[in-house]
This record gives sequence, structure tokens and C-alpha cells, in this order.
Amino acid sequence: MTQTPRSGSNDSDAKKRRSAVAALDYIEPGSVLGVGTGSTVGHFIEALATRPGLIRAAVSSSEATTGLLRAAGIEVLDLNELTGLELYVDGADEATRARHLIKGGGGALTREKIVAAAAERFVCILDENKLVGTLGAFPLPVEVIPMARALVARAIEARGGRPVWRRGLVTDNGNHILDVHGLSIVDPCALERELGAITGVVTVGLFAARPADVLLVGTATGVERI
Ligand code: A5P
Repeated sequence: MTQTPRSGSNDSDAKKRRSAVAALDYIEPGSVLGVGTGSTVGHFIEALATRPGLIRAAVSSSEATTGLLRAAGIEVLDLNELTGLELYVDGADEATRARHLIKGGGGALTREKIVAAAAERFVCILDENKLVGTLGAFPLPVEVIPMARALVARAIEARGGRPVWRRGLVTDNGNHILDVHGLSIVDPCALERELGAITGVVTVGLFAARPADVLLVGTATGVERI
């Protein structure tokens, strides 16, 4: 299961909502839309619900999002039924101005990466507090096959990271998550490749090889587009 979206301060929530509403402008009416996971996406789905018929259907990145979409009256399709997607809208835990992201705070990183890979355009919605110069203050989520958890943890330690098992969480894919602390990620593409090559790793929560195409950053007064 993906985790319940974290609740933020009212201030941060208002910024998330502003960025989420701005993403509506990127939707091609009548299209099938890829939808991410988390509290910012929760605001986005609420906004979508006020525009019935704007999209034909959605592809979901988690069981939690599937529930929200269905509750909003939006049909959810299997990605395998489609040849691709025009647009994916999702949040992030950290982002740089190069549009590299850390994702997976909600535990949905694998399906999020799959839907992002299928989409021509990835619009990332976030509040300004998540914009950083260097990724890594937010612990990097890494989804692992359960039997490989300790093996992967040792391999990450050997590379200077401090992996912490997110106990109690089993992902939608039946896997475990290690949150890797203590990284200062100066080359996100290289680290994504390197950690992804460790046997037993399913997905690294770095979105650098396929970054966001647009960041919609909610601020106190509006939305900055990057
Ligand atoms: C879910 O696994 C994550 O990648 C979310 O996109 C990310 O954690 C952002 O979540 P919030 O919108 O709840 O801050």
C-alpha cells in the first residue's frame, strides 16, 4: 500500500493547491492523463473533479490514487491498454532547477517512474519549500525486493549512504523501501544509474534520466514555472 499523504502546514498546503490547479492548463481536453501520488496530487484530483469531462480517463500510479480517481468519477485504465500518454502530472519530495527530482516519500516510486516513462510530458507540481540547490537532504527512497533488503543496504553503505528500512511499509508491488540518508547528490543521473544497477534494487527514487519537463512551483503569491 502507498502511504497516506503527509499533511503539511496550511501555508504549504495552499502552495501545493496553487501548483496543482495550474497543472490543469497543460491538459489536452479529452485525453488520457497519467496521475501521480501524494497530497499535492490529491489537490490536483480535487481540481479535476470540478471539471467533469475534461479528461477521457486516467492511468494511475498507485492504489491510493486509483481510489481517489474513482471517487471523483474518473475512469482508470491499465497502462497496457494504451500506446502511450501525452501528459503525466505528479508531485515530488525535492526538486532542482534542472528539474531533477527525488520521489517516493509516499512509497509509490516504481509505478510513478513507469507512468512518467510512458508520458511525452511530465509536469511536476510542488510547493516552493521543496526546491533545493542539491538533492539529498530528503532521504532517497529505494524500492527493493524484500529478500535483497540487507544485501542492497550493505551495497549502499559501501557507497557512503545510510539506508534505513521503512518498516511496516509494503509497496503496491509487494516490495520494501530503504530511505537513504546522508547523500549529497551532485550527479543525479550517475547515482540513479549506479544504485539502479545493484542487484535487488527495483527502483531508485531519483528522476534524473527522465526528469520533469516542467516544474509548477507554488509560492505564497502564485506559481513559478521552471
Ligand atoms: C509518492 O511516492 C511521492 O513520489 C510523491 O509524489 C511525493 O512524495 C510528494 O508527495 P506530497 O505531494 O504529499 O508532498
